[in-house]
Amino acid sequence: MKLNGIERAAMNNPLRAAHQHHREAAWFRRLAGDSLAGQHVLEVGCGRGVGSEVLLKRLGAARVTAFDIDESMVELARRRLHRHPVELSVGDACAIEQPTGSVDAVMDFGIIHHVPDWQQAVSEIARVLRPGGLVLFEELPRWVLDTWAFRTLTVHPRENRFEAGEFAAELARHGLHGVGRIEQHFGGMLFVGAARKT
Ligand SMILES: C[S@@+](CC[C@H](N)C(=O)[O-])C[C@H]1O[C@@H](n2cnc3c(N)ncnc32)[C@H](O)[C@@H]1O
Repeated sequence: MKLNGIERAAMNNPLRAAHQHHREAAWFRRLAGDSLAGQHVLEVGCGRGVGSEVLLKRLGAARVTAFDIDESMVELARRRLHRHPVELSVGDACAIEQPTGSVDAVMDFGIIHHVPDWQQAVSEIARVLRPGGLVLFEELPRWVLDTWAFRTLTVHPRENRFEAGEFAAELARHGLHGVGRIEQHFGGMLFVGAARKT
């Protein structure tokens, strides 16, 4: 699902970009160490492209392939990333246009909770990862999406959402097993973690 105006404003601003570059990058460095160094990383739902910048500049990825379902977001990402080793396209996390086992890592900066059939997106992520590849995720649990503010101000699928444990169980069902513990941030409004394909 595409973002509405309020969510776009919440995502596409300098404060969020600074947060991604500094705090969120530090969370993922703690979880993954230097596992992304020199790697080919796929970013699902890249938005305006700040996450791809973080992958290259903070986490050491050699190159990034990134897509988003919203063409206008991809256009913003193109403008931001034209000097970087990033390949951008419009695409759907439920039908990823990448060969099976072709990427070293997948990054999900808060998009899977936007996908109605999120289990299909997880299955696609597992498919495109090479054996031993890593998925890094940052997600919002069901209870947050059920709050008055989220129900009123944002557009998210209402049915078939997940809590952190359910998300981890779905990853495991596809052979993606947790690396360390899932971390909760902002009083549990956000969870982040890493899983490796066995
Ligand atoms: C909360 S925003 C996060 C954007 C970006 N990852 C960031 O951290 O700034 C969620 C993004 O997921 C995209 N999205 C939603 N459903 C998608 C799908 N099925 N496939 C790909 N992208 C999707 C939206 O267009 C939006 O850009």
